[in-house]
Order: sequence, then C-alpha cells, then structure tokens
Amino acid sequence: MKKIGSLLAAMAVVTGMSAQNHTFDINASKIGGAIPSTMYGIFFEDINYAADGGLYGELLINRSFEFPNNYAGWTISGKVSLKNDGPFNKNPHYVRLAPSGHNDKHTMIENHGFFGIGVKANAEYRFSVWARCPQGGKSKIWIDLVDNATMSDDQKLGNAGIDIEGKEWKKYTVTIKSKKTFAKAHLRVWGDSKVTTDLEHVSLFPVDTYKGHENGMRKDLAEALEQLKPGVFRFPGGCIVEGTDLATRYQWKNSVGPVENRPLNENRWHYTFTHRYFPDYYQSYGLGFYEYFQLSEEIGAEPLPVLNVGMSCQYQNGIEHEDEVHVPLDQLQPYIDDCIDLIEFANGDPAKNKWAKLRADMGHPAPFNLKYLAIGNEQWDYKDNPAFTKRLKIFVDAVRKVHPEIKLIGTTGPNSEGFEFDILQPRMKELGADLYDEHFYRNEEWFLGKAKDKSGKRLGGANRYDNYDRSKKAPKVFAGEYACHGKGKKWNHFNAALMEAAFMTGLERNADVVEMATYAPLFAHVEGWQWRPDAIWYDNLRSFNSCSYYVQQLYSLNKGTNMLKLTMNGKPVAGNDDQDGLFASAVWDKNTSEYIVKVINVGDKAQDVTFNFKGLKKGEYTTTLTSFHSDNLDAENTLDAPTKIVPVTTSIKVAAPTNSISVPARTFQVFRIKK
Ligand code: AHR
Repeated sequence: MKKIGSLLAAMAVVTGMSAQNHTFDINASKIGGAIPSTMYGIFFEDINYAADGGLYGELLINRSFEFPNNYAGWTISGKVSLKNDGPFNKNPHYVRLAPSGHNDKHTMIENHGFFGIGVKANAEYRFSVWARCPQGGKSKIWIDLVDNATMSDDQKLGNAGIDIEGKEWKKYTVTIKSKKTFAKAHLRVWGDSKVTTDLEHVSLFPVDTYKGHENGMRKDLAEALEQLKPGVFRFPGGCIVEGTDLATRYQWKNSVGPVENRPLNENRWHYTFTHRYFPDYYQSYGLGFYEYFQLSEEIGAEPLPVLNVGMSCQYQNGIEHEDEVHVPLDQLQPYIDDCIDLIEFANGDPAKNKWAKLRADMGHPAPFNLKYLAIGNEQWDYKDNPAFTKRLKIFVDAVRKVHPEIKLIGTTGPNSEGFEFDILQPRMKELGADLYDEHFYRNEEWFLGKAKDKSGKRLGGANRYDNYDRSKKAPKVFAGEYACHGKGKKWNHFNAALMEAAFMTGLERNADVVEMATYAPLFAHVEGWQWRPDAIWYDNLRSFNSCSYYVQQLYSLNKGTNMLKLTMNGKPVAGNDDQDGLFASAVWDKNTSEYIVKVINVGDKAQDVTFNFKGLKKGEYTTTLTSFHSDNLDAENTLDAPTKIVPVTTSIKVAAPTNSISVPARTFQVFRIKK
C-alpha cells in the first residue's frame, strides 16, 4: 500500500462536498457480536494453471512421463525409448537413454516447462532425478538450463553434471545457478556415456520456495496469499472435486505420500472451454492435501477441504442415468471413508491411525486442527429427485457419528437464487448442516442489489443477508465462490472490485450469519487461463494483484473483532435508492482499540458524509485512512504496471462526536479511528 502526506489526504476529505449530506450514525458505545476469524478467506482450485505451472514450485511439465502422450512437454533427440516398469507403481513410465553410439550422436531430452521455465539471474534451482544404469556400470548425465532464443554463442544459462552408478534406482540431486533472468528457458538432460541410463521423475524446483520446502510453493505467489491474512483456506476446488466423471474426480488419497508415486489426474479445465483449450493441462498432485494443510498452517488460515459427495459434475452428467454417472446410494462407503480418513489424516493420532501415521511420516506429527469439512461442490436436487441431499444425508449421519466435532458444510448449488437455491436452502437446515456454501458470479446490478426477480424482489447486493434466518438451527453462510463479472467486461477492472467492496459491507454487517467468504478464482497464469476475473495473475517470473485482490485484502486486514451498528436514517447503508450510491459498515477492533468504518461511493459524484458517533467522547482522534480509487473504471493492474491501482494510506484526524467528510466518487475508503 502506498502512503501519502497527511495534508494531501486531509484536503481530499474536506473538498468537493456535494449538496446533500448523509449522516451515518455509528453506535460506538454498543459493541456487537464477534466477527468470525474465518470471515475473509481464500479459495484455491487448480484452474488457470493455478497449481502445476502456478503456485506449485515444480518447473517441469510431465516430469514422470505419465501424460497420455508420454512425451508431452518433452523434445526427444537421439536414442530415447519409453519404458513402463518403473519403480513407482502408480507412475510406471520412465525413459531409457541408449548409449551414444558415436561421439556426435547425442541422446537428449528437453523439457519446455509450463509456457517455458522462468529462471532468475544468480538464483539456484534444484534438479533431481531417479536414475539407474540397468545393465550396471557408471554413466554421466549433463543438465543444462538453456535459452534457445539467444543470439550469444552459448545457449547455456547454467549447467551441472551427475554421475549415475549401479542397477538400483536412486535419487540424484544437483543445484544449478542461472546466469541470467529468462522467462522461457528449457531444461536439457544429456546422456554422455557408453552405458545405458534410465531416468524417472525428472524435476526442477527453485531452491528459494515459500518457507524453503523442497516440494514447495512458488514464493511470490504464496506470499501474496500470506499477505491477504486469510481466515480460511478452501481447497482443492470447485468443479475438479466432482470431476467431469467420477473417475477423474479429485481423490485426496492419491495426493499424499511420496510425490513420485502420486498418480496423474486429468484436469477438467484443459477441455472445458474450446475457446480456451489447453491439452497439456493435468494435475500432478504434487500440490496435494499434505501441502494444502501445511500451507493453511503457514499462512494462518483454517483449512477447509471439499470432498466429493458421490456425484460427478451435474452440469455435464445431469441425472438421467443416475446410477451410471453418480454413485448409487448403497455404494457410497468408499466416499464416506474418504471423509472420515481425511479427518484422521488431519487430526488423528499417528499411533492409532494409518492416515495419521502417514501425516507424521510426511513430516507433521502434530495435528493440523481441521475444524471444517465441505461435502459436495455445486450439487443440487431436482423437484422429483433429491439426488444430492439423499446422498449428503448418508454422509452427514456417518461422519457425525464418529466426528461430531467437525463442522459440516453443504451447498445451495451453483446459483445465488433460483430453483436449486430455493429447494436446497431449507433442506440444508433440515439436514443440520453447520454451514452452506453459496456461489455467485454475477454482474454489477446484482452486486449493487439493483437486480430483481420476476416478482420484483431485490436480488443480491449488500442487503442480501439482512433478513436471513437467524434461528438457532439455521446453518451459517459460507459464500464460497463469488466475483463480480461485469457485463461484457470479464476482466479485473476497477469497477468490478468496487462492486465487490460495496457488496461486502453486507457480509460485514451480517457477520452473525455469514461465517466465511472466499472470492474466486484465486490464481491465473496470463498464458494459461480459462476463467477470469481472478485475484492474482502471473507469468513465469512476475505476478500482480488485481483490484479485487486489494478489496479482499482491505476487508481482511480491517475485519476487526466485533460488529458495530452503522445506519443512515435508521437503515443500513446498503445502496438503497435514497442513499446516493453509498455503502458502509463498521466494526470494532478490540486488539487495537480502533473503530473501523468502511465507506464505498459507487457513484460518479463525491458525497458528503457526517460520521455521528454515539458514545465517543468529544475530541479529535488519530485515524488511518486508506483510499482505493481509480478515475478510470475500466483500468486494471497488469504485469507491466502491477501497482497502477493500489490502496493509498495516510494519517488524518477524525472529530467526535461528529465529523464531516467528502467521499470521492468511485472510491472505497477505510477509516481506522483510534480510541
Ligand atoms: O471458480 C470456477 C468454477 O466456478 C468452480 O470450479 C465451480 O465451483 C464454479 O462453477
């Protein structure tokens, strides 16, 4: 966040007053209920090359030669053959480099990475490979990081050699330093001996991963997550939890244990959209459930895994052949076991449970303290067939019996309203779900609450949760996927972020009903995206945060600890017709003794606002003001201009009991008023 001088900021708050004044009554003497620590979180799905080619630090594609086209991502030169009786039974393929017959006839395999391999000058890269000399003896391989496009007389950016010895498979590791920064490097492995050599699981990671883990995460991307200070971390999807069909659903048990033996899975996003088609998009599961739990812990978020409810994607498969495309009710046990075993993997005693033991063997004997489990992603019922809830009930009963301490999350389907939502919302209550997951990718009108259904009922907007069921048995809300998809403007322009900021005042005001909310999707590779907008974008070397990211961050860093009532003429400030495009909410932070007021003006005129603090002693209060603004609503951050639109923070004084300000047009402001 940028800081500017206080004089400039003070001018910004006193100039440009509009005709009408708006008085916000803030009840500072009555601290409301607690704001859940999980309130603002993140949702990770391997879409847009978010895992392989993104957050997961592996730089080589198809490292185990398991893609359907076994040489996908590789260029082969010389006598190379494919074998399938390797040391890892779930990834049996490997390559054999025959001896070079003649000095000039080299044998070489070259990997092009994910849209190239990004390397930085003087940075170190850890190359590893499982290898052997099947006929015995000793051989040598050379590993070159290369720039194929260079005009210089040497393509090598860095290089190292490895001596391989004996008939047994062994893991060999060497570190290579890059001479220069280059986003599109390739990695070559040369056979250089008269002895046949087998290579399996060929891998390259930056040494400098997030927290230094060998099977680690790309540092800048993981740090961007950490800087969001997320309260909850939902993973691994999304639609990939369901799979296009059951065979390709995400299976967490395949994603744990040694990385070399985690089987490849299809990634449905490679073919979901023919206009954004990526045939080389698979899931290596290198970023698996152990890594997700570890990352949750390291960024300080509650882990929230989502597991399959015995249903494949309903968009794709519908219900017509229910027992073929979904799991018949009497065959759900393995799926239920997945839930119960996952709770053991996360929390169990290694001395008593094999999944807990696996966690300990992987390096984390202490429990991960899993508290939430979501069952099913975007599932729904049909009028004459409760396809989803009849399955979910079986899961809920079975899991509750052994793990009543875990909060279970159902869903209200893929839409924020409509027949699926209307059927599912009451059913989630009947089933006793602790929370339900709502999804809404909607346009500006919806986010501002201007959209209406056929009966004229207002949809969406900051009022959405004002009248939700607050009875004891009603599940809490998990707004698990949402983003403003501007009409015809599906990118991360400032306006979409402003709509989200306005909408989120309603989450904050209703923190007694909404327990968590996660923007979606999280990541996108600029060369490999299928879906936008997204919170964080990157290429192989650089990354930037979208405007929507900053809105999420402003809420998360300013979430406070308790609700505080803020009204205008007795009503919430939620963009109502007589409120001139203003949205506002307030919280109290007991840790820092600050009142935090958020004000959003979505209109094109500055608006005069008076804060009227009830119960705050007369005086001037030191205040931090953060403003997020762009004159151009279509503007966005980019790789080349990553900080074009960022929040700007300054110090001002706010007077009590009343203080007048002018909120500039198209601006999101956060006031932290120190008591
Ligand atoms: O976030 C992208 C997709 O949107 C998710 O996979 C799915 O749950 C939703 O339809």
